[in-house]
Amino acid sequence: MSKKKKILYGVLIVLVVIQFIRPARNNGELDNENAIFTSLEVGKVLQTSCFDCHSDKTNYPWYTNIQPLGWWLNNHITEGKRELNFSQFESYSLKRKLKKLKEIREQIQEGDMPLSSYTLIHSYAKLSAEQKDLLIKWTEVTTNYLSDTITQGKE
Ligand code: HEC
Repeated sequence: MSKKKKILYGVLIVLVVIQFIRPARNNGELDNENAIFTSLEVGKVLQTSCFDCHSDKTNYPWYTNIQPLGWWLNNHITEGKRELNFSQFESYSLKRKLKKLKEIREQIQEGDMPLSSYTLIHSYAKLSAEQKDLLIKWTEVTTNYLSDTITQGKE
């Protein structure tokens, strides 16, 4: 066998073998008591554009059955959830909630979220100008509301 063929077979074998190494699925409950509480309108946008990487339940597209694409998304989910998990948001401390709301606003204003590598394939997750406005307003209103509960000594 020529050297070239040997390398080609080697690569093929590796590709076949890695198909069996599958990351555990992010397949928890969306409907739990710590899930973020928002209006239906805001909730829908968050679910469509953010939940795949920032909640306890990912809607897995077919291509994630192909490795290493599945590993790649899994990595985003792990890192995304570490930063912000909408399924656990209501269990965050007041301070952390305020910090996350500020980060969400910044990410949206700068157009950094959802990740562009993701919207390339999931074009439906791209935020329209109206959706951006809606989310930014929501972060502002919620921030004001939570700040009020501090000044009123409710928390
Ligand atoms: C494809 C996966 C994916 C999607 C979809 C996604 N994110 Fe993220 N997000 C990440 C990852 C990975 C990180 C951590 C690394 C980083 O900051 O880039 C992150 C980080 C963040 C952070 C923390 C950034 C900081 O300041 O440290 C916020 C806030 C955030 N995302 C908000 C959102 C919002 C809001 C949406 C929906 C509009 C969204 N993300 C959609 C993957 C995603």
